[in-house]
Amino acid sequence: MATELNSAADQKVTGKEPVIEIGHLKKAFGDNVVLSDFNLKIYEGENVVVMGKSGIGKTILIKCIIGLVKPDGGLLKVFGKDISKLNHQELDDMRTRIGFVFQSSALYDSMTVRQNLEFPLRRHRRKKITGTLDELVREALHNVGLENTIDLMPSELSGGMRKRIGIARSLILKPELVLYDEPTTGLDPITSEEITRLIMDLQQKYKTTAIIITHDTVMAREAANRIVFLWKGIAYKEGTYDELIHDQDSEIKHFFTR
Ligand SMILES: Nc1ncnc2c1ncn2[C@@H]1O[C@H](COP(=O)(O)OP(=O)(O)OP(=O)(O)O)[C@@H](O)[C@H]1O
Ligand SMILES: [Mg+2]
Repeated sequence: MATELNSAADQKVTGKEPVIEIGHLKKAFGDNVVLSDFNLKIYEGENVVVMGKSGIGKTILIKCIIGLVKPDGGLLKVFGKDISKLNHQELDDMRTRIGFVFQSSALYDSMTVRQNLEFPLRRHRRKKITGTLDELVREALHNVGLENTIDLMPSELSGGMRKRIGIARSLILKPELVLYDEPTTGLDPITSEEITRLIMDLQQKYKTTAIIITHDTVMAREAANRIVFLWKGIAYKEGTYDELIHDQDSEIKHFFTR
């Protein structure tokens, strides 16, 4: 049964503290209850895919994790720390340990690729990373196979290239945890597979833990250790890809048979 997996995952990693621990998380905007009682633990090295209908609360969930949206209630621990108890500086330091790939690539249009990649390094000088600005930018571009774009403007890049630069930028501070918000949306199937492969290769290289929000079932199959379905404000169902494609629940079936 897919729903038993959470405890199986817990047992598998007994003794280790989760990288993310979410308990009874709540968030509403007026009458619009987005998260009502959301629970999830994610352990080091796991790739957890979050799926669910448009507007259901996936982006809000990861914005809560990074401290961009304040939950109304519940527990939210990241790297063992309750983020509601962090002061501004502590939250800022924690964010240097988290890479966030935005749903839109969110590059600064008036900056070159180089300047876009330097931005997090300049903003978070407190984080000590080996290498000069130039070396780190070139390494980041090399990671995504786009060394030759260093002096281009974002407007000169294709959609797939912008996604790659967005990924390079989110990894430039060498984060331990990466949150990907629909990294393949709007891309053709071949480019989507390339991005999926790239994300997996980079996770192997940097040994990150990840949450990947996606509607892309190929990506979910390739990248997920576990898939969590967000529905009605809760982690409605979780399991491996193979478990969920055989699930008889009509909400879940609908996702895999489109
Ligand atoms: N700042 C805000 N103020 C009010 N309501 C908001 C705000 N941000 C999000 N919402 C609402 O929260 C709900 C969840 O939004 P969210 O962006 O998390 O959806 P999603 O699951 O990421 O959807 P999609 O797949 O389309 O990206 C939506 O009903 C949205 O209208
Ligand atoms: Mg979203």
